[in-house]
Amino acid sequence: MRIFSGIQPTGRKHLGNYIGAIRQYVAGQDRGEAIYCIVDLHAITVAYEPAALRRSVYDTAAILLAAGLDPSRCIFFRQGDLTEHPELCWLLSSVTAYGELTRMTQFKEKSGQQRELVSAGLFFYPVLQVADVLAYRATEVPVGEDQRQHVELMRDVAERFNARFGDVLVAPEVRTPAVGARIMDLQFPDRKMSTTGGSPQGTVHVLDEPEVVIKKFRSAVTDSGSDVRRGPDKPGISNLIEILAAVREISPEEVEREFDGSGYGAFKQAVGDAVVDCLAPVRERYDPIRADERTIEGTLVEGAEKARAIASPTLAEVREAMGVGPVRPGG
Ligand code: TYM
Repeated sequence: MRIFSGIQPTGRKHLGNYIGAIRQYVAGQDRGEAIYCIVDLHAITVAYEPAALRRSVYDTAAILLAAGLDPSRCIFFRQGDLTEHPELCWLLSSVTAYGELTRMTQFKEKSGQQRELVSAGLFFYPVLQVADVLAYRATEVPVGEDQRQHVELMRDVAERFNARFGDVLVAPEVRTPAVGARIMDLQFPDRKMSTTGGSPQGTVHVLDEPEVVIKKFRSAVTDSGSDVRRGPDKPGISNLIEILAAVREISPEEVEREFDGSGYGAFKQAVGDAVVDCLAPVRERYDPIRADERTIEGTLVEGAEKARAIASPTLAEVREAMGVGPVRPGG
C-alpha cells in the first residue's frame, strides 16, 4: 500500500487538522509506504507574503515532526522542490473537465473570501492536488471529510486518463477517520473548524497553551438542554462528544454513557482536559525542533530527492503515453 497526503503551510494548524489528518499520517507510517508533502505551491493561490510562507513551511514541518512523522519511516518533503507536480498538473488538465472544477466546494468557499484577486491558480488548485497524488501512484489518501471531493476528482481524472492513454495511473481510495473527520468550530458548531473561516475562540490550535485550550472548551457553545448526547438539534454537544471520542480513541456511544447525567460544565471540562493531554507531547517537542531550521531544511531536501525518484519515472511514462516531449529511447 502506498499512502500520500498533503498539508498546507498556511496559518497555524488546528485540532481539526490534527484529528482529521495529522494523526492519520503518523499511523500511516506503520501501515504502508507513506509519503507526506507540505504544499507550498498550493499556498500561493491566495494572497501571501513570500518571507512568511517560508516561515510557515518550517512551522508546519516542525508540527508534523513533533507529532511523530519520522523521516526514516516516511518520505517527507516540500512540494515546491519538485517540478514534477506542476508539470503533471498541466498534463492532467487536459483530462479534467472545466465543469468539474466549477463544482469544487473549496474553490467556491475560498474564491468568495478573496478581497483583491481570485487567481486562476485557485481554480486550478484541485488539479495540482490530483497531480500530487497521481505522480506517486498512491493507493490511499488520508484526509478529513472536507477533502473527499478532491479525492473523488483524483479517481475520475486517473480513470479518464487511463481510458484515453492506457493504464499508467492509479485511482486512489480516500481514507477519513471513523470519528473526527469533520471537527466543528467551538463557537459556531455549524461551521467546520478552519484556519481561514473560523472564529478565534472557536478554533483550538495544536500549539495553544493548556490554559487557552481549557478556556476555549469552557466557553464552547452548547444548547439549552443538559443531556450529553448527540443529535441534529445539538450541534455543539455533538461536536464535543466527537472530539472526546477521537482524542480518547473510544466510540461516541461510550462518551454518551460515561457522561450520562453529568451536566455540560463537567463534560466541557473533561473534553478540555483530554485535548490538553493529547496535544501536550506535540507542544513539548515543538520548540527545539522548530529552532533548528537547518535540520528541517535538510530533512525536506532529502525527502524531495526520494520523492523525485518515484515521481520522475511516472512523469516520463505520462509524457510518453500522451505523445509529448522527447521520444524516450526504446519508447
Ligand atoms: P489543509 O492543509 O487545509 O488541511 C490538512 C488536512 O486537515 C483536514 N482538516 C480537517 N479534518 C477534520 N476537521 C476539520 N475541521 C478539518 N479541517 C481540515 C483536511 O481534510 C486535510 O486532510 N487541499 C489540502 C492539501 C493537499 C492535499 C494534497 C491533501 C494538497 N495536496 C494531496 C491530500 C492529498 C488542504 O487544503 O489541506
